[in-house]
Amino acid sequence: MTAPRVFVGRHIPEDGLAMLRAVAHVDVWPGELPPTRAELLRAVAGCNAVLTLLTDRVDDELLDAAGPQLRVVSNYAVGFDNVDVPACTRRGIPVGNTPGVLTETTADLAWALLMASARRVVEGADYVRAGLWRTWGPLTLLGPDVHGATLGIVGFGRIGQSVARRAAGFGMTVLYSSRSRASAEVEAALGAVFVPFEELLARSDFVSLHVSLSAETRHLIDAAALARMRPSAILINTARGPVVDTDALVDALRSGVIAGAALDVTDPEPLPASHPLVALPNCLVVPHIASATRATRARMATMAAANVVAGLRGDRLPTPVNPEVYG
Ligand code: DGY
Repeated sequence: MTAPRVFVGRHIPEDGLAMLRAVAHVDVWPGELPPTRAELLRAVAGCNAVLTLLTDRVDDELLDAAGPQLRVVSNYAVGFDNVDVPACTRRGIPVGNTPGVLTETTADLAWALLMASARRVVEGADYVRAGLWRTWGPLTLLGPDVHGATLGIVGFGRIGQSVARRAAGFGMTVLYSSRSRASAEVEAALGAVFVPFEELLARSDFVSLHVSLSAETRHLIDAAALARMRPSAILINTARGPVVDTDALVDALRSGVIAGAALDVTDPEPLPASHPLVALPNCLVVPHIASATRATRARMATMAAANVVAGLRGDRLPTPVNPEVYG
């Protein structure tokens, strides 16, 4: 019997690839950059499984290009806004993602961004590199306190709650807004107070975004939302770039509507070095690295591979995003 064919959208950690090679013929896209659309459509043709990255759009066109033998789509991410899940479901194709394993790692980066932007860490390092550090300056690189401040968390799923947990050590007031309210036990354990979105924006010193991208959350942070925030507030985005209206953010940062932003995700992505957000001194941008620790990326690889292996066998995926395919 010929081995099933699996296409993997980029080199992922070896542990995951080894699991795939044990059961299938595996083609890994060799480039550092993702395949172009045409290359991707060619690469998936005839595959029984595809292990996609958030840079690979999975839609009817790709599913047609793959062919009717495709048994599973496994996304190497917890987010799956790059996948047209209903299109997969219509064809009975299960889609997997990698929830849970990157929760703490992503929360760590949200905090790194919060701390770095509040305390102007990157500006400080640039200042030293530029040879500007000539004395201890009473007014040099001042920023707001983090301890005792109010943290507003938008989206209170796993990652939002992990961000809240870290706030306890800083004696912060934690507000959250979310589609559904957390249980009284969770609220009590995290010391988090549920408030309407508008109130959260108006009261928070730091607003950290943890919603998935959907029609409902696209441009959730638009000019009107930014205008509700405090002029001293800092916005942190480790969710998805399009949750924030980029043009409105540029205007808000330029005109002092808010004090700063720290972004792991942007719209567009990647953000060209010539983009105004990159040049703004009150904006810190890093290249979508929230899950980028060796341990987490390795766990994501084995989890994504486990979804492929189960899908090839016709078993239920360990972490399906469309369990409705199983009736
Ligand atoms: C995800 O998993 O959705 C992150 O954005 C990348 O790890």
